[in-house]
Amino acid sequence: MLKSKYSDGFFSIDKENGFLPLAEPLRQLPEAYTDLQTLIDQMPIEREDGSKGLLHTEGAFEKAVLQIENHLEQVKSEKDPFVRAALFRAYSFVCSAYTLAPAHHHFIANGTYGKAHRTVPKNIAQPFAEVADQLGQFPFLDYHYSYSLGNYYKINPDGGFNWENLGMAAKFSGMSDERGFIMLHVDINQYSPQLIEGSMGIVHAQDDEEMNHHLELVGTALKHMNARRRLMWEASRWKHYNDFRVFIMGVKGNTDIFDEGLIYEGVWDEPKAFRGQTGAQDNIIPTADIISGVVDFYPENQLTQYLMDLRQYRPVCVQDFLKDLKESSTGSAGTIARLKASNNQKGLQLLLKILEEIYLFRNGHWQFVQKYIMSNTAYPKATGGTPITSWIPNQIKAVLSAMTTVDQLTEDGAHGFDKKEWKVRFEKKVQLLNKQLEIVQVPSFNPEDVFKLNAALGLNDA
Ligand code: HEM
Repeated sequence: MLKSKYSDGFFSIDKENGFLPLAEPLRQLPEAYTDLQTLIDQMPIEREDGSKGLLHTEGAFEKAVLQIENHLEQVKSEKDPFVRAALFRAYSFVCSAYTLAPAHHHFIANGTYGKAHRTVPKNIAQPFAEVADQLGQFPFLDYHYSYSLGNYYKINPDGGFNWENLGMAAKFSGMSDERGFIMLHVDINQYSPQLIEGSMGIVHAQDDEEMNHHLELVGTALKHMNARRRLMWEASRWKHYNDFRVFIMGVKGNTDIFDEGLIYEGVWDEPKAFRGQTGAQDNIIPTADIISGVVDFYPENQLTQYLMDLRQYRPVCVQDFLKDLKESSTGSAGTIARLKASNNQKGLQLLLKILEEIYLFRNGHWQFVQKYIMSNTAYPKATGGTPITSWIPNQIKAVLSAMTTVDQLTEDGAHGFDKKEWKVRFEKKVQLLNKQLEIVQVPSFNPEDVFKLNAALGLNDA
C-alpha cells in the first residue's frame, strides 16, 4: 500500500517536500564538535576567503585528521535527525578526503589516480560507523545526507532553490564548478514535490480524468527538471570535472584505487567496499521509470543489478517509498496496463510525453558522460564503479522500448495525435544511439566523434 508520506525526520517524501529535506540542513555542527567543524572549514583545496586549504598541500589534511577527538560517546547520545544528518555528512567528507587525498595529489602530478589510503583512522571510523548505523546507512559518502540533498544552504534565505542561490555546507575543491555541479542536483529536485504528487495521484486515480490530471503533473514536473538539468553545461564547466571527481569515488568497483577495500579501524577487522557518491542515487529517474513502466523494460544485466544495489544506498524512507510505489504499479496495476484497459487515448499520449522527458533526461545525461568524463579521462570507471560507455546507453534502450509499446496502443488522429511525425522523431533517437554504440565499441575511439553525432541528428543537449 502506498502511503501519503515517508519520513525519517530529516527527509519526508510527500507532495510538500518531494525528495528535499524537510527544512534547510544544519550548516554547522553543534558546539561539541568544534574541532571537526574547523577541519571541515579548513579542508577545501580553495577556501571561502580564497586562501589554500588543507587538501591543497600533500599530507596536510591527513595530519590534521589525526588530531581530531574521537567523538564516539557524544555521537551515541544524539537523537535529533538534523544533527545526525550533519554528523554523517561531516564524517563522510573527512573519510573520503582522508583516503583519497593521495589519489588527488597523484592525479595533479601524473594525470592518473594512483592509490588511496586504505585505513580510516579510529577517531573517524568509530563515530562515523555509529552515526551511519543510526541512520541505517553504509559509512561512506552518499548522495542524500552527504554530498548533495543534505548539503545545501540558501545564500539569500528568502530566495529559491535555483543553484545560483545555493551554497555547499561541506566541500572538497571549494571551486565554483564543484558547487554548480552538485547544487544543480538540489535545484532539479525543487520540482520533486509535483513529481511525487503526480505519481501518487496516478496510483490512486479512480477514473480517466484523475489519471490524466496526474499524468500531466508528472510530465510538467519532468519538463521543468529537464530545463534545469540542461543548465549543467554552464553551472559546471566540463573541463573542470576532474578538480573534484576523485573525492567522490567509491571503493566498490574501483579496485585500481582502493585494492580490496577500506579498513575501518576499531570497527571491523576485515576491509569493506562501499559504492561511491553518484547521481544514480537520485530518485527522480527511478520514480519516473516506475510510474511510466520503463522499469519493466530494464535489461536483465549487471547494470540493472547495480541500479537495484543502489537502492540500499538511499535513506530507509526513500527505499520504502520506491518499494511501495513499485508494488502499487505492477502487473495490471501498472500505468500502461491501466491506460490500455480503459483505452484512454489522451492518457497514452500524456504518457508518451512523460517518456519523451525521460528520454531527454537520459540522452542529455549521456552527453554529460561523453563530455565531463569520456573527453576528460581515459579511466573507464565511474564514481559509482560502473563501466560507463556500455552501461549508461543501456537505460536509454529501455526508454525506447517503452515508447514503442505505448506507441502501439495509440491511435493515429485521436486527440490530434500525428503518429507519422512521432515515428520520424523516434527513429532519429534510435539512429543516434546505434551510431554512438558502434563508435564506442572500438577500444581507441575518439569521444568527440560520439559527441558530434548529437548535433548531427538534432538531439544536442547543450
Ligand atoms: C556532469 C553531470 C553528470 C555526470 C558526469 C554524471 C555521470 C554519471 C555516471 C558516470 C553514471 C553511471 C553510474 C555510476 O555512477 O557509476 C550516472 C548514473 C546516473 N546519473 Fe548521473 N551524471 C551527471 C549528472 C546527473 C544529474 C544532474 C542527475 C539527476 C539529478 C543524474 C542522475 C543519474 C541517474 C538516475 C543515473 C543512473 C543511470 C540511469 O538510470 O540512467 N546524473 N551518472
